[in-house]
Amino acid sequence: MSVRTIGVVMNGVTGRMGYRQHLVRSVLAINEQGGVTLSDGSRVKLRPVLVGRNAAKLAELADRHGIPDHTTELDAALADPDNIVYFDAQVTSARVKAVLKAIEAGKHIYAEKPTAESVEEAVALAEAATARGVKNGVVQDKLFLPGLLKLKRLIDGGFFGRILSVRGEFGYWVFEGDWQEAQRPSWNYRAEDGGGIVLDMFPHWHYVMENLFGRVRSVYAQAVTHVPRRVDEKGHPYQATADDAAYGVFELEGGVIAQINSSWTVRVNRDELVEFQVDGTEGSAVAGLRNCRVQHRAATPKPVWNPDLPVTARFRDDWQEVPDNAEFDNGFKIQWELFIRHVLEDAPFPYDFAAGARGVQLAELGLRSSAEGRRIEVPEL
Ligand SMILES: NC(=O)c1ccc[n+]([C@@H]2O[C@H](COP(=O)([O-])OP(=O)(O)OC[C@H]3O[C@@H](n4cnc5c(N)ncnc54)[C@H](O)[C@@H]3O)[C@@H](O)[C@H]2O)c1
Repeated sequence: MSVRTIGVVMNGVTGRMGYRQHLVRSVLAINEQGGVTLSDGSRVKLRPVLVGRNAAKLAELADRHGIPDHTTELDAALADPDNIVYFDAQVTSARVKAVLKAIEAGKHIYAEKPTAESVEEAVALAEAATARGVKNGVVQDKLFLPGLLKLKRLIDGGFFGRILSVRGEFGYWVFEGDWQEAQRPSWNYRAEDGGGIVLDMFPHWHYVMENLFGRVRSVYAQAVTHVPRRVDEKGHPYQATADDAAYGVFELEGGVIAQINSSWTVRVNRDELVEFQVDGTEGSAVAGLRNCRVQHRAATPKPVWNPDLPVTARFRDDWQEVPDNAEFDNGFKIQWELFIRHVLEDAPFPYDFAAGARGVQLAELGLRSSAEGRRIEVPEL
């Protein structure tokens, strides 16, 4: 069977996501397995063209992985007709300008979330891509996590009966950067640089809710900056102007209530860094990144509230592990393969810029809800 190669311009590969998940775990991993397999059995390999601001860093990275093409000139990379896909994992604030350039150059676009900092710009990107006739996609990696795939399997199998509510708990302690180095880049904590946990996480929660439970109809959120001073990568103290925790309540189509806490200022007392508890009339589940546990209606214990007695029941023991029943690949890589098939043979890819814009819309309305202290309806985009 034939193997062809297409050029993929990758901008932002020196960053955390761009390097680890997209270059190493997706694009290079796809090539190592022999490429993306198309429906006719032929294969497509990806030739990454690394783009960034720092020539030395790019050269070091390219050298480490034996990648011949790298440049600090985005225009030059876009001018090559063999490069048919543009991928963007830059800081959010740099995304729109570069993506618009790539759309103009007629490239198919795949981008990290959020696609833009405002819904206006996110919609403009979607419209520009449609007008130019280029395929477009946004990263929605959480949908491909084993835990959430198991949750989806339970929903599709009718396990829950009528779903009542979803409780999401996401977060961990991000060090302030003074006595221990922060484990996230400092721009995340500056609103003026595109930071903030609402802008970062609400786009994720949006596609999780939309794909698993139903359209988001309203949002109430309280966004807070709990830690106002942090220390950056160079050891300089700075004012944290962006929210580092958000407490959100979402009303979904069908009456499901979702309540999701997102925080970089919480210490983990959970099995995983994100967990969703779903309660339905017939059963409940708790899904994390990898695992998912269930409790069926018939096996539900009957606790009785009595503060005078010590708790003897071990409530967690009453839950049952959902088996894998499948092999789970890296979620970022799965989505890359879907996008390449979408570009080359028009395979379905619902995670487009319009979906990306709906995620940005939820972030924007969440911030407005917090500022105005009220619940806000989410209009259909
Ligand atoms: N899908 C996910 O789970 C997930 C997780 C984290 C971050 N993200 C998204 O990925 C993007 C990158 O996040 P990251 O955590 O990898 O960030 P990072 O700071 O580690 O990397 C940012 C990249 O952008 C480049 N860049 C371009 N212009 C820049 C500028 N003006 N200032 C600073 N850097 C600039 C940097 O060189 C670097 O390559 C963000 O849009 C973020 O929302 C997605």
